[in-house]
Amino acid sequence: MARNTPTAVTPGRYTVYYGPVINPYSSTYFDALPNCVIVVDGKGNIAHLIEKLDVTSLELQKVLLTQIGLLDGTFTLVILEPGEFIMPGFVDTHIHACQVPNLGVGGQYELLDWLKYYTYPTESKFADKNYAARVYPSIVRRVIDSGTTTSCYYGSLHFDATMLLADIVRSKGQRAFVGKCNMDRNCPPYYIEPCAQVSLETTKCLVKHIQNLPQSPAGEPLVHPVITPRFAMSCTEELLTDLGNYAKANPHIAIQTHIAETQQEVENTLKLFPDCKSYAGVYDKYKLLRHNTILGHGIYLTDEEMKLIAERGAGVAHCPASNFYLGSGMARVRKLLEHGVKARGFSPDFSADAYRLSITQVGLGTDVSGGNNPSILYTIQMASTTSKMVEILPNEGGKKFDTAMLLYLATLGGAEVCCLQDRIGSFERGKAFDALLVSVRDDSGNPAIWGYNPGRDLTEEDTPKSAEEMLKEWLERFFFCGDDRNIRQVIVQGAVIGGQEFQG
Ligand code: GUN
Ligand code: FE
Repeated sequence: MARNTPTAVTPGRYTVYYGPVINPYSSTYFDALPNCVIVVDGKGNIAHLIEKLDVTSLELQKVLLTQIGLLDGTFTLVILEPGEFIMPGFVDTHIHACQVPNLGVGGQYELLDWLKYYTYPTESKFADKNYAARVYPSIVRRVIDSGTTTSCYYGSLHFDATMLLADIVRSKGQRAFVGKCNMDRNCPPYYIEPCAQVSLETTKCLVKHIQNLPQSPAGEPLVHPVITPRFAMSCTEELLTDLGNYAKANPHIAIQTHIAETQQEVENTLKLFPDCKSYAGVYDKYKLLRHNTILGHGIYLTDEEMKLIAERGAGVAHCPASNFYLGSGMARVRKLLEHGVKARGFSPDFSADAYRLSITQVGLGTDVSGGNNPSILYTIQMASTTSKMVEILPNEGGKKFDTAMLLYLATLGGAEVCCLQDRIGSFERGKAFDALLVSVRDDSGNPAIWGYNPGRDLTEEDTPKSAEEMLKEWLERFFFCGDDRNIRQVIVQGAVIGGQEFQG
């Protein structure tokens, strides 16, 4: 590794990053800070953040010793090179780890046929634990190196393979949610659970296993369990009842599922649950719609359903790459974001918590392999395209997304969807340092980025840009032209766990 950054944090030792930093605040605002200091403590949390400090490296040492009170010899200094910046790590709120072997094939089918002909056969291979042991490590490695510091993983329906997935994720140091699919009807005989009771019992065992995994250096879980009814169509009423009761008894365990991805799926669902008025109403009936529920897709949600989801405080995983790849449609993300505020009649005297729970939060999901790319960067590009298409649809309107919105969806919005906004998604004193060290230098080797190169004077401007404007441009170029080659380090809880410089 060219830089002296830690692959593990050490109690009593600090790592100090100095250079350009991107810090999101909301869907409309982010800070671009050309000269920022972030001090990370020995547990991987942010101990100090100085937004503006224009100094030489020698002066920086002095500030750290005299103003911040660090002791000589207790910290490692990482000074970013020109053309590099730090931003929060990506949050992928919806990814099927067991579908990565299918990336980029089967896109000619719509959802239900794609499940039947491509997805279920592939997922069924994870009945063999040896197969899972061969493929899951390289799957998780790819996801991490793509810049995803937190993943909400769907495993297959198998207990053993999904337990292994959780172990691998933990050993690689990624932050994650891991769940095994619950599915006891409308699936092929070779890939279905025998009954609701077995589905519930294996889920409980997996939850227990995950809750016993080693904690992070900050004394918290890095990998969380998540109850994962695949979608309403694949679950009997008995199974949904059991899962709902289990969820009610365990309010802190997250829930993830799919909703309103295609019109056919919505129709089938309403036929299977004739006493429910809507698709969202099905999950609500079984107590599966609440503040820590993550709903994938939500393309065909009605206004009424959006209102209900907002009232329950659930989050939505916007999966635009998948929505295009499988031809499912385009989600109305702005409407989702705006809906919740109206639903609860937002007023300024709401407490911060009440406000947070009253709105529908949205994050991004790759939905691999419904989505054909494991990178949130590609998902950002597809989210942008979706917003531009929705803008020109009759009766839809809404503005196309700017950089602030895309950054929010990929980081802080995702953190809110996972109820982890107090720990990750942006940089603040006390939060975990989950970050990417990005390079838009020519020597990153990505020909798509016309990036920083002091030897090339063709980019000299008549009116030079401010450092802040340059940094905002770097972020935009990274979003629309970047790939793994531009991600030098992937950092979770202060430790480098991936990226181009990682030698694990
Ligand atoms: N609905 C039920 N299962 C799936 C799945 O695996 N992927 C997607 N995109 N939608 C689903
Ligand atoms: Fe999915």
